[in-house]
Amino acid sequence: METKIFDLATEYEAGMREAAREISRGGLVVFPTETVYGIGADAMNPAAVAEIFAVKGRPSDNPLIVHICEPGQAGELAREISPMARRVMEAFMPGPFTAVLKCRDCVPACVTAGLDSVGIRMPGAAHARELIRRSGKFIAAPSANLSGKPSPTRVQHVIDDFAGKVPVILNGGEAAVGLESTVCDLTGDIPLVLRPGGVTPEMIREVAGDVRVARAVLEGLPEGEKVASPGMKYKHYAPRARVVVVDGECAKAIAICVNSMYDREENKGKKSLIFCTDEHRPLYGGRRTYSLGRDLGEEAHRLFDALRQADKDRTDTIFFEAVEPRGMGLAVMNRIIRAAGFQIVHAAEEG
Ligand code: TXA
Ligand code: MG
Repeated sequence: METKIFDLATEYEAGMREAAREISRGGLVVFPTETVYGIGADAMNPAAVAEIFAVKGRPSDNPLIVHICEPGQAGELAREISPMARRVMEAFMPGPFTAVLKCRDCVPACVTAGLDSVGIRMPGAAHARELIRRSGKFIAAPSANLSGKPSPTRVQHVIDDFAGKVPVILNGGEAAVGLESTVCDLTGDIPLVLRPGGVTPEMIREVAGDVRVARAVLEGLPEGEKVASPGMKYKHYAPRARVVVVDGECAKAIAICVNSMYDREENKGKKSLIFCTDEHRPLYGGRRTYSLGRDLGEEAHRLFDALRQADKDRTDTIFFEAVEPRGMGLAVMNRIIRAAGFQIVHAAEEG
């Protein structure tokens, strides 16, 4: 299949027209949002939705998020929106936030994976909302990566995974947030964060008065355990390289531990790479590092690109400095710990 790629900076009209036409006739479109790129189709067209699962190699028990362009559209998909849910949605939509609500019968089972709830998101990126508006459809869209690969934050990531497999790709440059949206169950009395993202639990608490975070966010689940958000049970975000997350009392303790493991790997002829902040780079001497930036926002922004880059460089082992699981740190740790298969090395014990 020929893939048409449009740069929204220079070919906005042509790109939007083609993409909207493709969605409305049941085709797939890769489009940018402020979180990550999505691979979308008409949410009410089961054949189009099935094509998303096929092209991604996604397990059919993992539900898709439905994207809307106006706040009022949530009520067309959800059958119950509590006053608390309404407040939270008003505060964070549009934005990097997905509300899980009880769904109406009109939402196809292939979208919800048979659950009685649906994830609804109104993207913050104006061009994503414009695509939804012009197509005249709700757009079901997971992240535009092959299942198991890190989510795409740059158009090159999408081209690597889907060139020749989808008719249209819209290039919107680098995704601003870089991690997927916060998925939050708003069906109960207290919001429950199923997947942390750009909207932090602390921000949700401000609005709702209280918030809970699902245990699976930072923990591996026992085999076969039922999970509120099916996406959380997959290893996910996995690069080819082995990922080792190291935590410890302080940056120096972590670095001593990482350096000794790194040198052991090098002696075995393995290629290692250390993901660290700008500030900590000097602690690793001349070893190979990938700087994730100055703060948690930058770490979130660069993480998926760093994981993909490591694979391109044929890295065998990635060492990652653990961060505090608070604010954006929770979202960063949620992603990296999955890439690491839930293993954390504690610096003091290894040293
Ligand atoms: O930022 C994002 O959310 C991106 C952009 C494209 O919008 N989309 C995205 O979709 O990350 P995906 O499919 O890669 O991740 C959606 C997550 C999955 O973990 C899925 O299990 C969960 O949301 N999810 C979707 N619907 C759900 C529901 N009804 N109940 C619980 N979890 C749900
Ligand atoms: Mg995904």
